[in-house]
Amino acid sequence: MYIIALLAVLAVSLHMLWPHIVGKGAGYGASNLRAAKWAFEHVGIEGKTLYELGCGYGSVLALAYKMGARAVGVEIDPIRALMCKLRCPRCRVLLADMFKIPLNDADVVYIFQYPSVNRKLAEKLNKELRKDAVVVSYYWEVPDMQLLSKNDKMKIYIYKPKSL
Ligand SMILES: C[S@@+](CC[C@H](N)C(=O)[O-])C[C@H]1O[C@@H](n2cnc3c(N)ncnc32)[C@H](O)[C@@H]1O
Repeated sequence: MYIIALLAVLAVSLHMLWPHIVGKGAGYGASNLRAAKWAFEHVGIEGKTLYELGCGYGSVLALAYKMGARAVGVEIDPIRALMCKLRCPRCRVLLADMFKIPLNDADVVYIFQYPSVNRKLAEKLNKELRKDAVVVSYYWEVPDMQLLSKNDKMKIYIYKPKSL
């Protein structure tokens, strides 16, 4: 009995953490939806193409869709990608590595990754995004991008690409 419980805990932990363990990005954690909503209202997402890199189980993506965005989620974990699609059938959900998805048509990019991942992502975002695109990062700041606005209390940061 204890063995089964232990194996179940191990399996769930691995499922949550594997992108981090294999060096692809952050493990699973959920954004504060009030913070995401604050940022989406702040930047205005209606009618815009919004990518969420690492969309998890889809709560932020569904919110973006409800607020009028063309919502595209990218998720490396197949179970999370499936749950995300079920949660928001009208969203586009790509089962893929976010580092391999072109972002040239994005107006807004939403991320909740780890600081080391944000550092790597900044290179891609500065290179691929249009100058008028914005990046919203929950919880962790993004180095090497131009900060436009932030809400320290909610731990949410809004950037534009830095000219290279
Ligand atoms: C901290 S969670 C954030 C989930 C969701 N965005 C939110 O804010 O509630 C990070 C997510 O990124 C996904 N992820 C990690 N590395 C990735 C990669 N290279 N490509 C796509 N998704 C990735 C993880 O599977 C996980 O679902």
